Amino acid sequence: MADVTIHPRSSRLSGFYQKNVPERVALLTKWAALTADETAVLEMGLSVAQADKMIENVVGRYSLPLGIGVNFLINDRDYLIPMVVEEPSVVAAVSYAAKLAREGGGFRTGSTEPVMIAQIQLLDVPDPAAAATAILAEKRVLLTLANTSPTIAQMGGGPVDIQVRQLPQTPTGPMTIVHLLFDVRDAMGANAVNTAAETIAPVLERLSGGRALLRILSNLTDQRRAWAEVTIPAQSFTNGAESGATVIENIAHANSFAVADPYRAATHNKGILNGIDAVALATGNDWRAIEAGAHAYAARDGQYRALTVWAVRREGREGVGVWGRAGVIHAPLHLYTPTPPLPSLYGRLELPLAVGIVGGATRTHPVAQVALKILGVRSARELSEVMAAVGLAQNLAALRALATHGIQRGHMALHARQVATAAGAQGIEVDLIAAQLVREGQVRVERAKELLIKEIKC
Ligand code: MEV
Repeated sequence: MADVTIHPRSSRLSGFYQKNVPERVALLTKWAALTADETAVLEMGLSVAQADKMIENVVGRYSLPLGIGVNFLINDRDYLIPMVVEEPSVVAAVSYAAKLAREGGGFRTGSTEPVMIAQIQLLDVPDPAAAATAILAEKRVLLTLANTSPTIAQMGGGPVDIQVRQLPQTPTGPMTIVHLLFDVRDAMGANAVNTAAETIAPVLERLSGGRALLRILSNLTDQRRAWAEVTIPAQSFTNGAESGATVIENIAHANSFAVADPYRAATHNKGILNGIDAVALATGNDWRAIEAGAHAYAARDGQYRALTVWAVRREGREGVGVWGRAGVIHAPLHLYTPTPPLPSLYGRLELPLAVGIVGGATRTHPVAQVALKILGVRSARELSEVMAAVGLAQNLAALRALATHGIQRGHMALHARQVATAAGAQGIEVDLIAAQLVREGQVRVERAKELLIKEIKC
């Protein structure tokens, strides 16, 4: 597990974005008690030698910006969120939404046990029903045999169940599918469950009389989910002449659109994953696995839908009931801050989140190690809950912008900085040229070059 320190400090870092990079690094170093080596890693990143040990045919490294999402209050604890992302406005937007969430007491989160599923595909099974009975009768033996990871066993995890599913109709005929459920504790667990699946496959062949073909984890990790909830008073959303009550009603309408329409849901869920993937990348987790699980889960009732719920609440304690329904909750109910005066906006995100804090790139990538230290998470479950809160905040920021002034205003301001840099602006010039591009409403490299020439001549 990463070396962590619990921080009593606040993550409400007003004006963090206005500081320059060395100032931000200095603040972060102090906040997260980073060593000099860890601080140096933030700039140096991965070395070629380290990269060469991670994948094949290495010829170099590819860098992306590492930013910090600020203002996060989750289960009454402050977090700074390391995020790796190339898209402007993601980090600014999530930090803004986290600030709004603070006005409602922050996020409440929870998660299931970290149970992964490995699938073993059995073909040519002569009697599928008899095979299922025979396999389930040997569950205890199979679970013992599947206990192949001493590391996970040491952490208190291991195989927990065997389930049998029949697929009577597929394009190539019927098949019997065995699910091995495996509690992987603080690991992402792909290697462990794949090994276990391969180990028990020959026994399953004997028990079923069939032939084992695929033996691989499922990325639809619906036994390993995390959720986050938030309730924010309407007045926090007041937007010029528009009342907060109107804004939150429009946010609920925006969410309904994505619940009912897959075309909108794809974009809506992409916005959620903007935040979640950025944390996954920063912490060395497999963001493709997260994406696959999230999208499959979004289609679990047969139609692809929004992963979130956003609703206007008019009664004081309505939110508590929903928190109680969610399953395992880390913070006891009596710690919940009272639901604010009405109306308020209630939001919830739940999704499969298979992430680890040990093994894989979380261990081999030096920046991932520092990112975990900055987060200060003590378990993979805690990391998944933080990621759910980040996803919910990211979605809130997008919906708030879309339901009010639109997404382009904020986006363009940040995009303009990239355009100014691409045109050759440096230092203070970047902000000056960017501001002018936005004022003129034409954020183009050619125009930035013209402005830069003017600037140099002046
Ligand atoms: C852009 O990366 C993400 C959004 O399109 C998400 C959304 O529309 O909800 C703004």
